[in-house]
Amino acid sequence: MANSNNQLQTAKKAREDEFYTQLCDIENELRHYRTHFKGKTVLCNCDDPRVSNFFKYFALNFEILGLKKLIATCYKNNEPDLFSMNTCEQAVYIIYEGDKNGNRIPDPSEMEVLPLQGDGDFRSAECVELLKQADIVCTNPPFSLFREYVAQLIKFKKKFLIIGNQNAIKYKEIFPLVMQDKIWMGYGFKRNCAHFITKYEDTASDADHREGMIRVPSVTWYTNLEIPRRHEHIILYKQYNPVDYPKYDNYDAINVDKTTDIPCDYDGIMGVPITFMYKYCPEQFEIIGVFNHGCDNEYDLAKPILNGKELYTRIAIRKKQI
Ligand SMILES: C[S@@+](CC[C@H](N)C(=O)[O-])C[C@H]1O[C@@H](n2cnc3c(N)ncnc32)[C@H](O)[C@@H]1O
Repeated sequence: MANSNNQLQTAKKAREDEFYTQLCDIENELRHYRTHFKGKTVLCNCDDPRVSNFFKYFALNFEILGLKKLIATCYKNNEPDLFSMNTCEQAVYIIYEGDKNGNRIPDPSEMEVLPLQGDGDFRSAECVELLKQADIVCTNPPFSLFREYVAQLIKFKKKFLIIGNQNAIKYKEIFPLVMQDKIWMGYGFKRNCAHFITKYEDTASDADHREGMIRVPSVTWYTNLEIPRRHEHIILYKQYNPVDYPKYDNYDAINVDKTTDIPCDYDGIMGVPITFMYKYCPEQFEIIGVFNHGCDNEYDLAKPILNGKELYTRIAIRKKQI
């Protein structure tokens, strides 16, 4: 039984690694970063340049964004097939340096598809060499390798704008980066849900069903690019009282179920939902830790237990004295 559960989990992870991002979702997020790309080299390193909408977005907007260079590498694939089976031990990459013939369109003749020596794994030496050339990395990486993917970006001190699961914020490898202000959430998807292009059938009974797509909840953009939203204070108007804001059974902190309900006059530690991170302004609040399992790392303060019941993960915050 345990074995078949493991097999199911592995299959689920493999499926989640093969969800493709829509151009409209890339445009929706990227419109907030128009000035960041001027004179920059962009790398999309989990993207078959022949089919990726990330590559398409940057190639089509190369001159508008003022890019210097665009590089894209794909994984275990040398056929132009969106739904690659990742069966090829060799992969390809493209370098695009803008419009050469003056028609302001990225023509195929202006792009050369070049072979990589290996399979295009973002961790391989040749892909790391391409990473070193990049100023900003932008893609939707495989969800199953998110921790390693982010660790590599941080190691090479790269700017990035990438898609990931919202819950990745509480991973023991990611949360310390959040606390150190090395990663934050971008503007995100509507209701934190995304429709990705997939060959797998969407079995969820959802009113918002779209053909050829799968609706994935709790998805977000992670970045370390500065955005104005990050410095906007939340307007707090609720007042603290011990009935609406009870303390956890096992930790001296009050529970707040909604970000908009954060009391304006409480100076102690508060447990707020993960979605608070969309509104987090480091000048207004400090992040103290997380209420998750209570044992993941030094920042995992306790399980969020209220009246004997364990709640969903909470972020532990405190108001800064302004
Ligand atoms: C979630 S899909 C997104 C694809 C594309 N970036 C997009 O947004 O449409 C993740 C992609 O990463 C590729 N991939 C999986 N493991 C990889 C690895 N180790 N190195 C590079 N790419 C990988 C998969 O083949 C898949 O195409």
